[in-house]
Amino acid sequence: MESMHAALAALRLQIEWGADEALEMAPVDRMVIRAPAPPRPMTPPPQRPVAAPAPVAVPPPASQSARDIANAANTFEELRAALAGFDGCPLSHTATKLVFADGNADSGLMLVGEGPGAEEDRAGLPFVGPSGQLLDRMLASIGLDRTKCLITNLIPWRPPGNRNPTDAEVMTCLPFLLRHIALVRPRRLVLLGKLSASALTGNKAGILRMRGKWTEVHVPGLPAPIPALPMLHPAYLLRTPGAKRDAWADLLLLRRTIDKDLSTF
Ligand code: URA
Repeated sequence: MESMHAALAALRLQIEWGADEALEMAPVDRMVIRAPAPPRPMTPPPQRPVAAPAPVAVPPPASQSARDIANAANTFEELRAALAGFDGCPLSHTATKLVFADGNADSGLMLVGEGPGAEEDRAGLPFVGPSGQLLDRMLASIGLDRTKCLITNLIPWRPPGNRNPTDAEVMTCLPFLLRHIALVRPRRLVLLGKLSASALTGNKAGILRMRGKWTEVHVPGLPAPIPALPMLHPAYLLRTPGAKRDAWADLLLLRRTIDKDLSTF
């Protein structure tokens, strides 16, 4: 009985710390002492002194190869396939599904969130959980829906326990997002939350300072920067209902801009 209580307490702690998904069918006991790796064979000493060391093939940093892989994609579908086969981000090992995009790539409007949560990870689609439902209501309030915009994320795989992605994970995934934007060529971007706003604009100010003002995102391969509107993330609005007033002001600004210069909407 006592061991059952201890096991339940350990389970509860793991859930509190974000380990809320089983990754394998059976638990792995990481306390077990494994047999040490066999010693590497000794290299015989060189016969003669060598004038210059032979060049060593240094693997490129993950973000460098991510950029090459992303830039080799010439269509939306090629980019999705490249991401699906990309092994350079550890988040792809713990996530259930790749979350690439949803909506209309020809709409001229692209929304960039932060990263998938549990529901998105299961569905393989961005913004389908509670913050996605709020996002749909926000879009509807200004006459938009998923046929009139494309929705994607800064990070295409769910960080375990919904933690924020690390800087290294953001840097690894950023080339794919930039290529995504270059292929879609939206006329306007909406950046939902601080992470996507600062990763794409380079502005490290808080989202409360950035929101509500059009700024620009420079995308390699595009001739001109894309106007971008940082906005409060729907998940923040769910936690902070008092901030909905600011979000409403930003939605109206987006609607006015669309009315003014995007005749195709
Ligand atoms: N939050 C995000 O930033 N993106 C999603 O897809 C879902 C929640």
